[in-house]
Amino acid sequence: MTTKTNFQTIVWGISHLPELLAQAGATKVLLVVDASFPFLSIEKQVQEMPVPFVVFDQFSPNPLYEDVCKGVDCFCQHKCDAIVAVGGGSSIDVAKCIKLYCRLDPSVNYLQQECVDSGIPLIAIPTTAGTGSESTRFAVIYFEGKKQSVNHLSIIPTFALMEPEVLYTLPRYQKASTALDALCQGIESWWSVNSTAESQQLSKKAVGVLWKNIRQYVDGTGNSVDESQLAASVMKAANLAGQAINLTQTTAPHAFSYKITSLFKVPHGHAVAVCLPKIWQYMIAHPELCIDPRGKEYLMNVFYDIAQAMGCSTPQQAVEEFEAMMMSLAMPNPVSKNRADDIQLLSQSVNPVRLKNNPVQLSQEAIGSLYELIVS
Ligand SMILES: [Fe+2]
Repeated sequence: MTTKTNFQTIVWGISHLPELLAQAGATKVLLVVDASFPFLSIEKQVQEMPVPFVVFDQFSPNPLYEDVCKGVDCFCQHKCDAIVAVGGGSSIDVAKCIKLYCRLDPSVNYLQQECVDSGIPLIAIPTTAGTGSESTRFAVIYFEGKKQSVNHLSIIPTFALMEPEVLYTLPRYQKASTALDALCQGIESWWSVNSTAESQQLSKKAVGVLWKNIRQYVDGTGNSVDESQLAASVMKAANLAGQAINLTQTTAPHAFSYKITSLFKVPHGHAVAVCLPKIWQYMIAHPELCIDPRGKEYLMNVFYDIAQAMGCSTPQQAVEEFEAMMMSLAMPNPVSKNRADDIQLLSQSVNPVRLKNNPVQLSQEAIGSLYELIVS
């Protein structure tokens, strides 16, 4: 099955890799993989690709700018003309940055140069159902300890090659954390001030499927036919949520989560999902602080639409069901330190200017109070 969006071609089935390489005109590939690669069910098909390739795996789970530079050097030294990325968000993000920087001046910091489309074809093969990175124009890397959001239309992978079989061997916790990321991305995109009719359609499909299936996807059904259908549905829904945030970007729960991840080492999806219900609750209680130009009534209707996609009759019920779902997945709040200095550190990490996509205004005081609820 093949779908063409405005930005890329999405193809289902690892067996299509050779024809995608041919379509890309690849003669030498940089293969970007993470440490999970040797254990993947698709490892053999990737290793047998009919084009010479060089492996690049010298990067950390939260990739550094220096890692990307090494990847650019590797790409140029070996005269590669295409990139295949296999992995979770990190591999795909590193590959996107290599694509973006490989034709720039290596003697000047890439982050300070004006970027243009390098024209290098990129095939992204996601190995989790979560970030949707295979369909977005964003990549996250770290420079001198600070998170850098790389954002360029040209880094949307040329092809997203989807193979749900890779999900069968994911550890339970990773399944849960990544699926929660996808669910939160679908919800946040839906209420984002940047949402459009098109993005909301994508969010609606993604949230409905993820909400309905997340428990069975994480814990299994004991029936292999059901499980292969579940894997395919969840992978597709996570990709739709990725397509939605590609149009709208994420909002406050993502902005709040980054410091929880770096301070307490809580994986990304889990950290976002811990923040989302508390922030949603606050937004329901404060429609007067709506900053979406479409108005507070419009926003409340959006909250009702999201609740409905979650099988709930009110947004309040949806918040409660979301928290109950986290408990039933055994994904309770992993942070219960609530020390005054932690709250201060967390609050300082969220720049209110960065919350401009969030439909309800959050003052510095509100951010502090919310963090107190989140890490209590
Ligand atoms: Fe995310």
